[in-house]
Amino acid sequence: MRRPMLAGFGAFFLLGGLFFSGRQPEFHAQPIAFNHSKHLSAGMSCTDCHVGAQTQARATLPTLETCLTCHEAPLGESREEQKIRAFKAAGTELEWRPLTRVPAHVYFSHRRHVQAAGLTCATCHGAMEKLTAPPQKLFRPLTMDNCLECHEKSRANTDCNDCHR
Ligand code: HEC
Ligand code: HEC
Ligand code: HEC
Ligand code: HEC
Ligand code: HEC
Repeated sequence: MRRPMLAGFGAFFLLGGLFFSGRQPEFHAQPIAFNHSKHLSAGMSCTDCHVGAQTQARATLPTLETCLTCHEAPLGESREEQKIRAFKAAGTELEWRPLTRVPAHVYFSHRRHVQAAGLTCATCHGAMEKLTAPPQKLFRPLTMDNCLECHEKSRANTDCNDCHR
């Protein structure tokens, strides 16, 4: 009985705060409340799910088929996990909502940063292995200044048309 009540108070203060700061509450919902921490502590690596993160421009988000390689049959009691098989039964693909996105006029390549520059995922995305729920905010701002700061420091190109093609 205590938890719903506490959650109720939490929501009250959160909404109150948003109201007074004049901002819209915006929860970045995902079709399944995915838990990075559980999967990474089970020994998976980033590219098992983000298959392009080392070799392509886009890291990509995993398809239902990837999840089903392990979740065809239940692995636990989780309601969220049951959704995987419900999506399969309905014949619907998982529509993850990307959070980290640069505008269409900006070119960004994972291969270039991960392979050529040797940067770790955590440099730009933070400690994903600690997340027990989908991220709600960016770890690193996706502003031009932020890209340029690192490019200047590491003597990478800063010509306009490297990033704007
Ligand atoms: C390589 C195997 C593997 C793959 C691929 C995989 N999972 Fe899991 N998943 C696991 C294991 C292991 C657990 C932990 C089971 C437990 O302890 O309850 C788990 C647990 C879960 C849970 C329950 C976690 C919780 O919060 O209690 C959900 C939800 C889930 N996975 C979703 C997904 C989704 C969505 C995908 C595809 C993007 C996926 N999994 C891909 C192995 C996998
Ligand atoms: C079992 C599959 C799986 C593994 C392994 C995995 N991820 Fe993910 N990742 C997902 C799914 C599903 C989402 C979308 C749901 C969410 O945001 O939690 C996601 C979302 C993300 C996002 C947010 C994308 C956005 O649009 O902002 C980042 C960044 C990310 N993962 C990085 C990583 C890194 C770094 C690793 C390794 C340390 C990793 N992931 C390992 C499945 C996985
Ligand atoms: C130099 C910074 C940087 C590094 C290093 C980096 N990323 Fe990203 N990541 C980004 C940016 C910027 C975007 C948005 C790209 C876009 O909009 O095309 C992004 C987007 C993503 C997404 C969202 C889905 C997608 O395809 O756009 C995932 C998942 C992701 N990165 C995972 C990873 C993983 C896993 C690694 C390590 C192997 C990694 N990233 C390394 C900057 C980085
Ligand atoms: C933490 C450091 C870091 C951040 C942040 C970063 N970059 Fe880079 N970037 C590099 C390095 C280092 C290289 C050079 C890689 C190489 O040796 O090819 C590079 C190369 C590039 C290239 C290829 C340039 C060429 O030679 O033609 C593009 C395009 C690019 N980055 C875009 C971006 C964009 C867009 C962002 C911001 C969303 C960004 N980068 C953020 C470090 C970074
Ligand atoms: C390292 C990558 C990078 C380089 C180099 C770069 N930009 Fe950008 N630029 C970005 C990113 C990322 C954005 C989108 C985020 C933002 O608006 O801050 C952006 C946004 C912009 C915008 C749109 C701003 C807006 O308000 O919508 C303009 C205009 C622009 N850049 C011009 C330039 C010019 C001119 C140069 C050369 C002097 C340049 N950029 C060099 C990454 C870069």
